[in-house]
Amino acid sequence: MTASHSGAFVFFGATGDLAYKQIFPALQAMIRHGNLDLPIIGVAKSGLNLNQLRDRARDSLQKHGGLYADAFAKLSARLQYVNGDYHDDATYEQLRRALGNAVRPMHYLAIPPSMFESVIQGLAKSGCARDARVVVEKPFGRDLASAQLLNRTLHKSFAEDAIFRIDHYLGKEAVENLLYFRFANTFLEPVWCRDHVASVQITMAEQMGVQGRGAFYEEVGAIRDVVQNHMLQVMTLLTMEPPMDGGADAMRDEKSRVLSAMRPLVPAEVVRGQFRGYLDEAGVSPASQVETFAALRLRIDNARWSGVPFYIRAGKQLPVTCTEVMIELKPPAHAVFDVDGPAQSNYFRFRLSPDVLISVGARTKVPGELMVGTAAELIAHHRLHDEMMPYERLLGDAMRGDAALFTRGDAVEAAWRVVDPVLGNAAPVVGYEPDTWGPAAAEQIMAGGDQWHNPAPEGASP
Ligand code: BG6
Repeated sequence: MTASHSGAFVFFGATGDLAYKQIFPALQAMIRHGNLDLPIIGVAKSGLNLNQLRDRARDSLQKHGGLYADAFAKLSARLQYVNGDYHDDATYEQLRRALGNAVRPMHYLAIPPSMFESVIQGLAKSGCARDARVVVEKPFGRDLASAQLLNRTLHKSFAEDAIFRIDHYLGKEAVENLLYFRFANTFLEPVWCRDHVASVQITMAEQMGVQGRGAFYEEVGAIRDVVQNHMLQVMTLLTMEPPMDGGADAMRDEKSRVLSAMRPLVPAEVVRGQFRGYLDEAGVSPASQVETFAALRLRIDNARWSGVPFYIRAGKQLPVTCTEVMIELKPPAHAVFDVDGPAQSNYFRFRLSPDVLISVGARTKVPGELMVGTAAELIAHHRLHDEMMPYERLLGDAMRGDAALFTRGDAVEAAWRVVDPVLGNAAPVVGYEPDTWGPAAAEQIMAGGDQWHNPAPEGASP
């Protein structure tokens, strides 16, 4: 353990959904991999006692990834519990005592954003924030103004380099590989610009609906839930300039720069959809105008990307579960063959989940006398064995103080600036049938002859 490693892990929301589904499995995995040997302190107002929290952790692991007896025994032994109200000073005094002499404790706020302010104040007042780190879950605010306010609140008690804003997409192996692939290969850079790229699309399709999270979803909708964060982060990795090095500062400077060059969205270039049946979900208002699907067209006003359309589409109850990036290249400047235009031009395809692949779409000649071509795809498949879960990766990084995969305050605000004009009911919401690719209106935001590329279920060629 290095000198800058956190000496204790505190998580608020210990009896909540996120802890159950993600945090306990991540902690167990860190212990299994020999990366966690600290006091683990859960905080919540639940009335449970420590043994009951241990039972809940056991149950969570059985349902999410499996229980490993040795690792679970260590997790149980390290687990402590502070039961108390987040508005009550006594809760933080109890936490202060539980922390003992731990250096650089890491406080993870796995709680609704409405509670952030109270908890941050409680931590500061009790001394728990001294020399500490704080990890904040998404959603980070619900628009630009609230994100700015939240940043101000955090900065009162924590320096920017002690704040870790989680976007679990950045902890995904395939998402990190986008960055690696771009900057570790020579052949890409010459074509990675407006001269050669015709368009870029990112589709995040989910077959599932809102899975009982109707009340939560009513507060967010697809644009706040996944576009402002996951999708814009993927777009940033695809479009940022090469950083000076792999360090957190260089990386985050370039991300912020390209996010600032993204033009704020306009309602005419956004289609919001809602799957039929959403209104019947528990916790959903019968008159809800919240979108479960969004398709949008973006632009980047800089020398590399000026004029290139970027399309983002994300939705629930679509025909497949898959996140895929498609980068279409322009056709050759002068057509020697296929003079009527090839059926398909060159492209790069990055499939980020559920399976991971990178492919290059090319034209090859059909054997025979004629010089006619066919589409071929060169595919690199990544087989992930015992892949590190995003939360394991990200929590480990934060405990070491490595901020490279976390979103800096200015970048979060820049991303809100992009989506702010189309939040709420700026664009009308249109119904769509489950198991379709969203409302037909999504086609209308495509420029020129561009078409949506619908990812196949098994990662096959388009
Ligand atoms: C979360 C969203 O951030 O990401 C969910 O709140 C979404 O609505 C989820 O389903 C998707 O993440 P993953 O890792 O399953 O692709």
